[in-house]
Amino acid sequence: MKIKKLHNFLIKIFKKQGLSQKDSLICSNAIINAELVGAHSHGLSRVKMYCDRINKKLINPKPKIKIKKISQSITHIDANNCIGFVAGDVGIKQAIKSAKKTGIGLVGIKNSGHYGLSGYYAEQAVRKNLIAFCFTNAPPAIAPHGARKSLFGTNPICFGTPTASKVPFILDTSVSVINRGKIRVAARTGKKIPEGVALDKYGKPTVDARKALEGVQLPIAGFRGSGLAWMVDILSGVLTGGNHGGKVKDPFDDFSGPQNIGHLFIIIKPNLFVGNYSQRIKENIKRIKRLPKIKGIKEILYPGQSKFKRYKKNLKKEIKIPPNIVGDLRKLNA
Ligand SMILES: NC(=O)c1ccc[n+]([C@@H]2O[C@H](COP(=O)([O-])OP(=O)(O)OC[C@H]3O[C@@H](n4cnc5c(N)ncnc54)[C@H](O)[C@@H]3O)[C@@H](O)[C@H]2O)c1
Repeated sequence: MKIKKLHNFLIKIFKKQGLSQKDSLICSNAIINAELVGAHSHGLSRVKMYCDRINKKLINPKPKIKIKKISQSITHIDANNCIGFVAGDVGIKQAIKSAKKTGIGLVGIKNSGHYGLSGYYAEQAVRKNLIAFCFTNAPPAIAPHGARKSLFGTNPICFGTPTASKVPFILDTSVSVINRGKIRVAARTGKKIPEGVALDKYGKPTVDARKALEGVQLPIAGFRGSGLAWMVDILSGVLTGGNHGGKVKDPFDDFSGPQNIGHLFIIIKPNLFVGNYSQRIKENIKRIKRLPKIKGIKEILYPGQSKFKRYKKNLKKEIKIPPNIVGDLRKLNA
């Protein structure tokens, strides 16, 4: 489907669910961006889930978002169980505004929902020549090191910086070996998942996506990844007033209440300590790219580089929608 047509289609769907034109556009932009960067597990495949949660009154389509300024730099947002994209949009805009004014913007958000890709918010700050850290917690998927039960989410860690070039540096990574969305897509399409990414409910390694969803996902780098997942849970949940410690509800399976996810944005002006950040970051990247390469590697890429290329390429094409998702979207638009 042509991108413009898909935008209109999605906006219509969200407006039908009771969202305002402005909020529907925010959702549509975030979802289409996920498709364009190739993160299909965070794009159209989730539209039905968001709509189901709105219908069950677990996402508030007409939220009264409370924005509490704590200082010129610090803001606390109660998102009133709105769709996560809207909370993320309000939060990142506020953090950017504060950072521009004072050098640093810190925004904690509670009572939110799944907001998609952390990098999407970091990119917005980087486009304004700011450095960004974005954190969100997520429903239980990873067992803490030494535990047999999932508790941490795939809790992405995201850091972005301007690079003095068109291509931003965006490190945006789940702390699970692969993200849960990819396992969901594999479960739906009957595909196997790679070895070494998950255990079944009995604690045995599995390549069966359905069994993996019933079991636990493995963190990156053993206890180190488990520690990082824990850190994100503390920053996004404990600190902001959001759910934490395994209480974030799974958006697909748990309809017992709103998710109350927490997000944390830390946005920083790059020239706080040095006047020539642009020059320094350029030199930093250049030095790393000049290193001798291992066999088969043409270029040492920095995080975000290949995603940027993919985005630019996909922008010129139509978006392919799998038949099962087309069916869902048509029903939602009927
Ligand atoms: N909202 C949520 O609850 C939630 C939960 C988990 C993940 N996510 C999102 O899912 C997305 C995907 O996460 P993921 O862990 O699958 O990401 P990924 O494994 O595709 O990429 C991780 C990072 O590695 C970088 N990278 C990839 N190939 C590289 C290479 N050859 N050289 C250098 N860097 C390279 C990427 O640019 C990215 O920054 C993220 O945007 C994340 O925010 C969201």
